[in-house]
Amino acid sequence: MKYSLFILLFILMVSFSCQQGNSTSRSMQSKIDSLEGELAHAYKPGLGEFMSGIQVHHAKLWFAGKNNNWSLADFEIKEIKEALDDIHQYCTDRPETKFIEMMDAPIDTLTNAISHQNITQFNNGYTLLTSSCNTCHKETNHAFNVITIPSTPPFDNQDFKAR
Ligand code: HEC
Repeated sequence: MKYSLFILLFILMVSFSCQQGNSTSRSMQSKIDSLEGELAHAYKPGLGEFMSGIQVHHAKLWFAGKNNNWSLADFEIKEIKEALDDIHQYCTDRPETKFIEMMDAPIDTLTNAISHQNITQFNNGYTLLTSSCNTCHKETNHAFNVITIPSTPPFDNQDFKAR
């Protein structure tokens, strides 16, 4: 009798703790569901927004190089590289992302030119970079979007001369 009471108690305890476990995992699941919902609606920049940022850094990079401001040029090429990495990470839903690799060669050439403060290599690298922008725009049905080497600085509140 004592023994069966003990077994009954044991069964009750096990089933109680299982129920508790179930309710914990249910509340965990609902938390996960709500977090997933929030994540789905969280703001993330689109490809066009990254491109607008890249456009600014592309223009600034030119005037940094022209002025032998190699620290600024180094900063600008890194900003472009960072934006391209972000496109890889955040624009996975865009098929155009697969073309990003075509920017590796011009970016390497420019990074090398900047570290050696070599203006001839910088000019060549910049021409290659700009034509790669346009090659990708053509590949992705955005041929109407033509990037050029800028003739005037994009902003007049920034001094591009080296200090
Ligand atoms: C991987 C291919 C690819 C590369 C490389 C690329 N672009 Fe783009 N670019 C696009 C696509 C696709 C769009 C259209 C984005 C959209 O749908 O909003 C675009 C749009 C743009 C826009 C239009 C934004 C606007 O509203 O006017 C600019 C400016 C731009 N790119 C500049 C550049 C520059 C500068 C480079 C080179 C440093 C470059 N892009 C390299 C694919 C590329």
